[in-house]
Amino acid sequence: MTTAEFKKQIAEGIPFKLPAPKPYDQNINHAPKRKDILNSAEKKLAVKNALRYFPEKFHSVLAKEFVQELAAYGRIYMYRFRPDYEIKARHLDDFPHRSRSAAAIMLMISNNLDHAVAQHPHELITYGGNGAVFQNWAQYRLTMKYLSEMNDEQTLVVYSGHPLGLFPSHKNAPRLVVTNGMVIPNYSTQDHWEKFNALGVSQYGQMTAGSYMYIGPQGIVHGTTITLLNAGRMISKTGEGLTGKLFVSSGLGGMSGAQPKAADIAGIISVIAEVNPKAIQTRHSQGWVDEVFSDMDKLIRRVKQATAAKEVTSIAYEGNIVDVWEKFADENINVDLGSDQTSLHNPWAGGYYPAGLSFEESNRMMAENPEKFREAVRKSLRRQVEAINRHAKRGTYFFDYGNAFLLEASRAGADVLNPEGEFRYPSYVQDIMGPMCFDYGFGPFRWVCCSNDPADLEVTDTIATETLGKLIKKSPVQIKQQMTDNIHWIKEAGKNRLVVGSQARILYADAEGRMAIADAFNKAVAEGKISAPVVIGRDHHDVSGTDSPFRETSNIYDGSKFTADMAVQNVIGDSFRGATWVSLHNGGGVGWGEVINGGFGMVLDGTEDTGNKLRMMLHWDVNNGIARRSWARNKEAMFTLKREMERTPGLKVTVPYIADDEIIEEAFR
Ligand SMILES: NC(=O)c1ccc[n+]([C@@H]2O[C@H](COP(=O)([O-])OP(=O)(O)OC[C@H]3O[C@@H](n4cnc5c(N)ncnc54)[C@H](O)[C@@H]3O)[C@@H](O)[C@H]2O)c1
Repeated sequence: MTTAEFKKQIAEGIPFKLPAPKPYDQNINHAPKRKDILNSAEKKLAVKNALRYFPEKFHSVLAKEFVQELAAYGRIYMYRFRPDYEIKARHLDDFPHRSRSAAAIMLMISNNLDHAVAQHPHELITYGGNGAVFQNWAQYRLTMKYLSEMNDEQTLVVYSGHPLGLFPSHKNAPRLVVTNGMVIPNYSTQDHWEKFNALGVSQYGQMTAGSYMYIGPQGIVHGTTITLLNAGRMISKTGEGLTGKLFVSSGLGGMSGAQPKAADIAGIISVIAEVNPKAIQTRHSQGWVDEVFSDMDKLIRRVKQATAAKEVTSIAYEGNIVDVWEKFADENINVDLGSDQTSLHNPWAGGYYPAGLSFEESNRMMAENPEKFREAVRKSLRRQVEAINRHAKRGTYFFDYGNAFLLEASRAGADVLNPEGEFRYPSYVQDIMGPMCFDYGFGPFRWVCCSNDPADLEVTDTIATETLGKLIKKSPVQIKQQMTDNIHWIKEAGKNRLVVGSQARILYADAEGRMAIADAFNKAVAEGKISAPVVIGRDHHDVSGTDSPFRETSNIYDGSKFTADMAVQNVIGDSFRGATWVSLHNGGGVGWGEVINGGFGMVLDGTEDTGNKLRMMLHWDVNNGIARRSWARNKEAMFTLKREMERTPGLKVTVPYIADDEIIEEAFR
């Protein structure tokens, strides 16, 4: 298809002529059938809702088709309206537009739905089993059309995938405001999500799926590498490194697929179990995992050989993680680091596959007999924890990696609590990411080159390396290690071939680092050293972006971890300080109802105006969370805030006085 035809199709939006129905492509990784949750009146409402997108002349054909889709898949995806062109990141000028910011957003949306990137592309799911960009193809088509025709004095409003429309605003306002899964708090159980989503009125946007900020598994490789390196430093008894040590986990999906790559980069042997052969094939063909085994005995022989020879290799096991933990315990295989990355934020609808059932049996049971499936999941979690406990007794450092593993295991009655009623294993944020990164302002800053040209990405890598190289000379000792790890990462990033989809890079940086790098990019765009604008953004999983008591804010100990003021304030503050788009979500990472998170995207177009905005916005985007973490008495954040106030006129934050515990004890005597 020529670029002109592509542009024409985007500008058309909902086609005037009904396109031919599309066959269900068996070669694509599809979302599992969702459970049948609507009663018959609600099913009629779901179909009526879906028909709102189309002129009446199509209704009699589409009504029947949508009834069938709802029955077959539990959702109305409107498969017929999937476009014929390839959806992928392209040069921003290849997208029809009047606003270059809108074109950059189109690039980012397209990347989230690219077949090489998205987990279930035909169901518009980017990662995490239910992390949706849109609920259906009509929403995609309409949103792209709006973006293609909007100007820089309009703002597009998107409610959970549904483009409400273009509203007049002004040049400095965000071009796009997205909300996903916002519900009245009392209506936020898993079943509420199933129901609202089946009705076509809400969606689970995860963090970077429904905010168009996903950059493929690279996004998480860096975080996982940092986590593994620091976990290795924690368990190191004599200062030895990770060489010859073994890491066991599960999942080779959207995010979890980063684990073997990160383990290779960190220099540890990894075994990752995955039940879905298609997911294994994808990661193996992309070079993200080195070896694949489906026979347990062969796997065990290979692991023994690799640990004895202190090799660095990543191994996928096609099968259930529970079997790996149990068998490795029986065979006395010493596991140094352990975690889990099944999608337990979504335990009942395909996020977790129970031991003892085949992949296909599980898929059938979750749709046909959801209660029996739930029981199988709970039983499997109990078995998994029992096996992990056997390993932990022998010295395995097991950590929850932000997928609600401990939460769901405890709900399933697994032996995962200590006598005080707390989880016996830490969340990676409590031990590692919180005190070592978030409380100092380090988080998953990222950028995407809108030329879609690898040469531009190379230039940005060099600029980022040079910028951090200058900053580290003045860095206090408390953050020298973080700076060193990140400089090492960015120097190696090109060699590690991390790009899947758009020309993107992730780099953990603090407020000062983010502002300096973005500023340098903006100048390079102005000078033509980078050939087109650059989008900056971040994962919502960050210093200030997310209130999530079992993950990002699990190291907040003043009782405020169940509040969500920080995440909501963050998005509001970003929106009036110059973000090109902002998004606020219910549910990313650990599950619907368990977290509120927000993020931003900003287009660096090389103008002076953007230079001013980026400093103001990034300063807030990090220091909001630092101020909150400091108020929660986190000493690393108190240190960071003091440093920030010394160098930033106008920043005056309320700091806590620290009460002596003895005085409080005495007062209660
Ligand atoms: N720590 C973080 O920073 C972070 C970041 C993103 C996502 N997450 C969380 O991690 C989880 C995984 O994310 P994802 O995007 O990879 O999800 P995903 O659904 O794409 O992948 C999970 C994979 O686990 C496999 N699986 C499920 N049960 C299994 C079992 N018992 N044994 C072996 N394999 C099994 C599935 O087949 C699937 O491929 C999610 O809950 C997500 O929210 C954590």
